[in-house]
Amino acid sequence: MVLSLQHLALGIPDLKVGADFYTTFGMNMREGDQDLLGFRCDNRSHDEVVLIETGQNRKFHHISFATDMAGFNRIEAGLKARGIETLSPPFPVADDGLWFRDPDGNLVNIIIRDKPRQAAEAVPEVNRPGLQSRLNKRGCPTRDLPARPRRFGHMILFTPDVARQVGFYTDIVGMQLSDTITDNYGAFLRTQGGSDHHVLGFLKSPAPGFHHASFEMGSIDEAELGAQRLFGKGYKHAWGPGRHGVGSNYFHYFRDPWNGMAEYFFDIDYITADAAWQPEDWTKKDGMFLWSADGPPPPDFGQNYELD
Ligand SMILES: [Fe+2]
Repeated sequence: MVLSLQHLALGIPDLKVGADFYTTFGMNMREGDQDLLGFRCDNRSHDEVVLIETGQNRKFHHISFATDMAGFNRIEAGLKARGIETLSPPFPVADDGLWFRDPDGNLVNIIIRDKPRQAAEAVPEVNRPGLQSRLNKRGCPTRDLPARPRRFGHMILFTPDVARQVGFYTDIVGMQLSDTITDNYGAFLRTQGGSDHHVLGFLKSPAPGFHHASFEMGSIDEAELGAQRLFGKGYKHAWGPGRHGVGSNYFHYFRDPWNGMAEYFFDIDYITADAAWQPEDWTKKDGMFLWSADGPPPPDFGQNYELD
């Protein structure tokens, strides 16, 4: 089974455009070979977004997960038992490990790596009714508060068959189902061993494709000051700020330059390894959002721009 999310890779028409977006979003860029850029959050030691210049319309390229030796061997045995072919790495500087395709044809990579550690940040002092913990101090941050994502938390893919993808990622990849959206419209999976509510999700569409990638922020203020900086550079708002039902996280989505989306999230549910968590089948409305400053998701929120 997989234990953590490693990176997302997209094939895009023009690396320069991708470099501008993800650095404005708050990530650090690493130049790979001439056709590839890697992006990572501060204090992370591995690329979390990989952009590959294809000269063609944006298309999901692959997803990479990390696990330990036992997990790796279990996934390899599961692939063999199902007769699923393992493939060569898709380009010379790609990571080693297992490469294979899921039932939708999405390329998946599994490598053996330790789960990245994340330093604990201090609990903010917040004044509540009858409980004032911030005394004689101003709570409002300054306008230059850095908006730096802490880590790549999850991604969502479109699929024509949500149940089939859930079956594959739970049986073969060893993920666990956290929640669903009714009528097989959506499903949200976590990794074993303690995980965010979801690190991979699926939404129904006539074809596979990339929906969004999501990154953890330190507060709502950071997310919204970051949003203002993105808007100031001409990037487009997509949806939010609001709060999801599924996963409980605060969200704000932005359009990336290729009509995919990147999300700032804060305060997502976390499920421990030994939790007796029962998946819930949410209505579309309640699962998607409890509230959002701009109302329901816009009509193109569920549009798959990888559809021909
Ligand atoms: Fe998300």
